[in-house]
Amino acid sequence: LHWYKHAGVDMALEDATVDRFAEFKKQMDARKDNTARTRPRLTTPLKSTSAQSPMSDAAIPDESVVADARKQVKEAKSLEELREILAGFKGCNLRLGAKSMVFADGNPKAEIMLVGEAPGRDEDISGIPFVGRSGQLLDRMLEAIGLNRETVYISNVIPWRPPGNRTPTPQETEICRPFIERHIELVAPKVLILLGGASAKTLLNTTQGIVKLRGRWAKYKTASGEIDCMPTLHPAYLLRQPAQKKLAWQDFLKIKIKNNGSGN
Ligand code: URA
Repeated sequence: LHWYKHAGVDMALEDATVDRFAEFKKQMDARKDNTARTRPRLTTPLKSTSAQSPMSDAAIPDESVVADARKQVKEAKSLEELREILAGFKGCNLRLGAKSMVFADGNPKAEIMLVGEAPGRDEDISGIPFVGRSGQLLDRMLEAIGLNRETVYISNVIPWRPPGNRTPTPQETEICRPFIERHIELVAPKVLILLGGASAKTLLNTTQGIVKLRGRWAKYKTASGEIDCMPTLHPAYLLRQPAQKKLAWQDFLKIKIKNNGSGN
């Protein structure tokens, strides 16, 4: 188990273990016999009964899923409604492997909103964004400019933990995009802080990397106007590259200056 954990495997996807060696042998035998009767497990059709596996709830994502997400979020007139709609949304398969839906933390009336990439293990367990090591660093960074979770609001582009903390696929990001966009519209912050490349690229609709984007004020466009937006380095990256903290500090000082300028 330790070896698996070290390799990044930290969850089981199915209730029963699968003997892949036996599966492979069966496949080879089937080929030898040239008979269709012993079909290997890997080619069994996707449609299984719900008693067999949670994966039977899995959607096959396509553009209509994104269109459906867009349609559903329009119904949300408050954050509570958005949370409910998201909880009932079946279009993103990441929900199947996650323990919790991680919606948000902090003060929904705050003028500053931070958006990260996706929950990690600790966030999945607690259902609260940024509570693990990177969250603790984020709290210290906020504190350094006089902010905390009562004066900011925090969410993520993706509300479910991707298995093993893998990077969300572009398709998963597109499916979840309408939710975070509506989320931002409903909070309507004065300042948006985009934590890391994934969040910045998604919400600024750019392919530019975070190293280029960070530290420069940008405009995030909503249906009702524009929000000042600061892309900055993700705290998880800063934990791996502590020498880069000085850059994040420069970005946070810019946020502090803007925030103080607005009379806070
Ligand atoms: N990293 C993120 O991007 N979001 C979290 O909530 C936790 C870690």
